[in-house]
Amino acid sequence: MYHINIIRQQYGDLTVLHNLETTIVQGEFVAVMGESGSGKTTFLNMLSGIVNQYEGEITYLDTSLHLLNKKQLTDFRGKEIGMIFQDFQLVDFLNVTENILLSNPESTLDEVNAMLEKLGILDIKDKSVLQCSGGQLQRVAIARALMSGKKVILADEPTASLDAKSSKEIMSTLKMLHDEGLSVIMITHSPSIASYATRLLYLYDGHFVSDLDLNNKEQNHRLKDIMEVVGEVYEANL
Ligand SMILES: Nc1ncnc2c1ncn2[C@@H]1O[C@H](COP(=O)(O)OP(=O)(O)OP(=O)(O)O)[C@@H](O)[C@H]1O
Ligand SMILES: [Mg+2]
Repeated sequence: MYHINIIRQQYGDLTVLHNLETTIVQGEFVAVMGESGSGKTTFLNMLSGIVNQYEGEITYLDTSLHLLNKKQLTDFRGKEIGMIFQDFQLVDFLNVTENILLSNPESTLDEVNAMLEKLGILDIKDKSVLQCSGGQLQRVAIARALMSGKKVILADEPTASLDAKSSKEIMSTLKMLHDEGLSVIMITHSPSIASYATRLLYLYDGHFVSDLDLNNKEQNHRLKDIMEVVGEVYEANL
């Protein structure tokens, strides 16, 4: 689905990503980990075309993102990519349904209701977002991201603002969507959150130094090694 060959990506004089090559297949659930400032968000923004100044090439279904102009990139995101973030990015003076319609003006109320029902939050459709819990807000954000038949979800630390229980609910939701065929690429600092994925990419020094198949028992075991290095600090913050 994605063929990624980043020779060099810089912000001014700062090189963040370089010599980074990988392929992401349709239907994968990829967790991206790495130290703060290692370039995880930059990587995700390159996959959505938000960051498009770099040497190298990223192709999505055989289309090189570099060949798309601004309008075509916006269309590409609108059609293919749903994005969710740590802080939900909802409009707090609108209710749940209005938030979803704002980003998906062509969706009908029936379509919104069907999506809310699927994510288990139909009961809050008329609630102000100020009255929703964090876990509910993230599910609203997922609903908003997924309307109009998106095929990929890019998630930047989707559970970082949530308590352990809500984090698990969000991960179960993402897992259900993945089981239905959605591709998920998710940044997390938490090994236990990463363990929901089928593949783990570890970013260090500008590229992926570790690429683990989490379905493979032996490789899954290595997640525990990574857990020991980064786990304690972040698990405490879950
Ligand atoms: N728009 C920008 N302009 C200049 N420098 C930037 C910009 N965005 C990010 N950077 C820098 O690029 C580096 C990578 O940032 P990025 O946000 O991709 O890291 P990250 O791995 O997502 O970090 P975190 O875990 O803290 O979210 C950092 O040094 C950051 O300061
Ligand atoms: Mg980041």
